[in-house]
Amino acid sequence: MTSQQDAHAQAATTARTTPAEPAVGPAAPGARTTAAPGARTEALGTRTPAPEPLYGGRGTRRITVRDITMAKERGEKWPMLTAYDALTARVFDDAGIPVLLVGDSAAMVVYGHDTTIPVTVDDLIPLTAAVVRGTSRALVVADLPFGSYQASPEAALRAAVRFLKEAGAHAVKLEGGYRVVRQVEDMVAAGIPVMAHLGLTPQSVNAFGGYRVQGRGEDGERLLHDAKALQAAGAFSVVLEAVPAELAARVTATLSIPTIGIGAGPACDAQVLVWQDMAGLSPRTAKFVKRYADVGGVLRDAAQSFATDVVAGSFPTEEYSYR
Ligand code: KIV
Repeated sequence: MTSQQDAHAQAATTARTTPAEPAVGPAAPGARTTAAPGARTEALGTRTPAPEPLYGGRGTRRITVRDITMAKERGEKWPMLTAYDALTARVFDDAGIPVLLVGDSAAMVVYGHDTTIPVTVDDLIPLTAAVVRGTSRALVVADLPFGSYQASPEAALRAAVRFLKEAGAHAVKLEGGYRVVRQVEDMVAAGIPVMAHLGLTPQSVNAFGGYRVQGRGEDGERLLHDAKALQAAGAFSVVLEAVPAELAARVTATLSIPTIGIGAGPACDAQVLVWQDMAGLSPRTAKFVKRYADVGGVLRDAAQSFATDVVAGSFPTEEYSYR
């Protein structure tokens, strides 16, 4: 174990063993309903800590779905990114990203497929386990891949249980509206937090005839009904992908669970991007992607500098050699 890994493991252990740490949200449930917040605990010599934001707070304990629910109640916006390996997940965890999604986008950005369809539960479980191991604070959501949940609620429950037991995921995500409501109900009843996904659901790319904006015109009403049904079924949040900003704003105002936008405008409670798109590693991206870095360029330059040194015989020098 490197000293960095050691320090990280120690920090993670501290975070996991610190009891009842008020990292986010009030420590005492119900404090928000007290007429004079904090008055009672102040009289006892303690003060109910103010809720910490999901992003930008000082909290180090693992984020929970309860924290996500309370953030919506506070009207707080938050960021989510995808992650597929331990080291990248750790960077995002250190950056304070509160929710990481091991997306089935791994099919494309990790495994090199053209769509998300080929990836399997067996492909995603090791990636999810790595992301969980690389983090100490982020809530890790595992995507249920195409074919693992559509057939029945039993199939969905079986796949979700594997992600929780074998990979340590804290929640799962699945795509679809009414047609997956029974799946959501059964997973929630089993104690599995479920993130829903509406709009451009990439697993349906063949039915959509390509990656197109969804929810225009009358389809918008259907999407709103689907969102309400998923909330009623117990989903703790819903991703809205590639839908008109106005529709996403309506859904966000209607639901009591947070909406997570990707190409859904600014009104959503949270925003998510595939990290390789956000950081400039993906060669092509959709209109809704903002590139915050040029990681592809940085890696290419590093590879070329290394190659030049090797060819010139200037690496390794004595500094990088053993006596
Ligand atoms: O698979 C994925 O990465 C996703 C997000 C883009 C929401 O579903």
